[in-house]
Amino acid sequence: MKTILITGCSSGFGLEIARFFLERDWKVIATMRTPKEGILPASPNLRVIPLDVTDEDSIIKAVELAGPIDVLVNNAGIGMASPVETSSLETMRDVFETNTFGTIAMTQAFLPQFRERKSGVIVNVTSSVTLKTLPLVSLYTASKAAVNAFTECLALELQQFGVRACLVLPGRAPETPFAANGRDRMKGLDHEAYAELTKNLFASFSETGPITRSADVAEAVWRTVNDPSCPIKLPAGEDAVAWANNSKT
Ligand SMILES: NC(=O)c1ccc[n+]([C@@H]2O[C@H](COP(=O)([O-])OP(=O)(O)OC[C@H]3O[C@@H](n4cnc5c(N)ncnc54)[C@H](OP(=O)(O)O)[C@@H]3O)[C@@H](O)[C@H]2O)c1
Repeated sequence: MKTILITGCSSGFGLEIARFFLERDWKVIATMRTPKEGILPASPNLRVIPLDVTDEDSIIKAVELAGPIDVLVNNAGIGMASPVETSSLETMRDVFETNTFGTIAMTQAFLPQFRERKSGVIVNVTSSVTLKTLPLVSLYTASKAAVNAFTECLALELQQFGVRACLVLPGRAPETPFAANGRDRMKGLDHEAYAELTKNLFASFSETGPITRSADVAEAVWRTVNDPSCPIKLPAGEDAVAWANNSKT
């Protein structure tokens, strides 16, 4: 039985990925900043451990507690939407600390065991916003685009050890609390110089059209993990797939 460790399992995609792999008889280590009881089905194959990906000591403890794993999913992430002009450096740093450096630090922490065993898969969850330019999300997009670049180079570095590094790019998923969790980082959207742009962007979000569901992301992670021939960058969700196809033309 294989073991998967997933970051950010307290809600949204992480919670669904954990559920999806548990249902398919994997051992799941669901990590959460603040472990919550009862949000995943009780199972002898489930372990919930604390992990803050921005905290070095927390990462060291999680690696010790986890022991050998076969798959690492770097899913934890935070959102931000603001004009660059009104974004604080502190908020930008928080976003990069979690989305970019958190992913890199976790990867680095688990790499030695993957390299030594000559097997393992690292799946980094970024975003379809990296496939299409949008205003007001430049910092968030930059934090995820950096992970795309990191992962694609890392994949080449790890090929020689039989270890894979891959990307899953979800589209917009209004069913997760992602936007609500990022509300405090949305500063300056009411600035008069950006009001029109903000109105148009949010209107486009509220239009009916294809979206991404947590199940799409769990399925994409499943495919990435179990199908070594799958593309290194896998869009997840109907909107993300459409964006990926348009970005090829
Ligand atoms: N929803 C979307 O529209 C969308 C689209 C594309 C990509 N994504 C990406 O998909 C991933 C999951 O998002 P989601 O939609 O599932 O949002 P979510 O429900 O807000 O989940 C984010 C998870 O990350 C965790 N987290 C935040 N900071 C952390 C830290 N420092 N250490 C460890 N865990 C931390 C949160 O834990 P707490 O409960 O402790 O805050 C939560 O479990 C993110 O990387 C996000 O950028 C989301």
